[in-house]
Amino acid sequence: MKHETVEKNVGLMIILVIVAISFGTLVELVPLFFDKQVNEPIAGLKPLPALELEGRDIYIREGCNTCHSQMIRPLRAETERYGHYSVAGEFVYDHPFLWGSKRTGPDLARVGQRYSDDWHRAHLYNPRDVVPESNMPAFPWLFDDEVDSSRTADKLAALRMVGVPYTDEDIAGAAQAVEGKKEIDALVAYLQQLGTLLRTKR
Ligand code: HEC
Repeated sequence: MKHETVEKNVGLMIILVIVAISFGTLVELVPLFFDKQVNEPIAGLKPLPALELEGRDIYIREGCNTCHSQMIRPLRAETERYGHYSVAGEFVYDHPFLWGSKRTGPDLARVGQRYSDDWHRAHLYNPRDVVPESNMPAFPWLFDDEVDSSRTADKLAALRMVGVPYTDEDIAGAAQAVEGKKEIDALVAYLQQLGTLLRTKR
């Protein structure tokens, strides 16, 4: 009988549906805020140095994350190909997360140190030079353009506000650390550290 009242009253139904969904959401979400495995950085995790952080921003600007995920699932096919599956503690300093879900190209979560700097430079200059069948776009302008150092310190300071433990010295030295560097240097530095804290032999 009571159920019939709810089913015949759209307003009441909407409110009860919202209550039910909110309850479910909270039950799933709230425990995560207190779960150490999710909140605590894995051993050795450090905030990205200024140059690598600029590299990350170039990675976002060029849309690398629209073709590449950074999230290895705990499935055999993935761990055999890419290495150790991704764990939450690797990403606690990432704002925004670059996990992605589209894999036009391979996952890059553990690409760090897999290739030489020279390989990455050649590949980004023209992917076809090193992987003949590649359909990844070329990014030759990264070799001409210098990193814009005018906002690097602000970027570190902003990240510190959301909990990334940059020190005053990090922020003070940020602009100098990237000055005169080419964008390709920043991007390759960023790629070379990806996933290197947690590796299994490949
Ligand atoms: C249109 C989709 C697309 C975009 C955008 C793209 N890639 Fe790729 N990427 C690919 C494909 C496809 C491959 C596989 C073929 C190859 O190795 O070139 C690849 C391969 C790679 C590899 C080698 C991975 C491995 O494990 O062998 C790296 C590193 C890489 N891309 C970095 C980047 C970076 C950095 C950017 C942004 C500047 C970028 N990609 C943008 C499609 C893309």
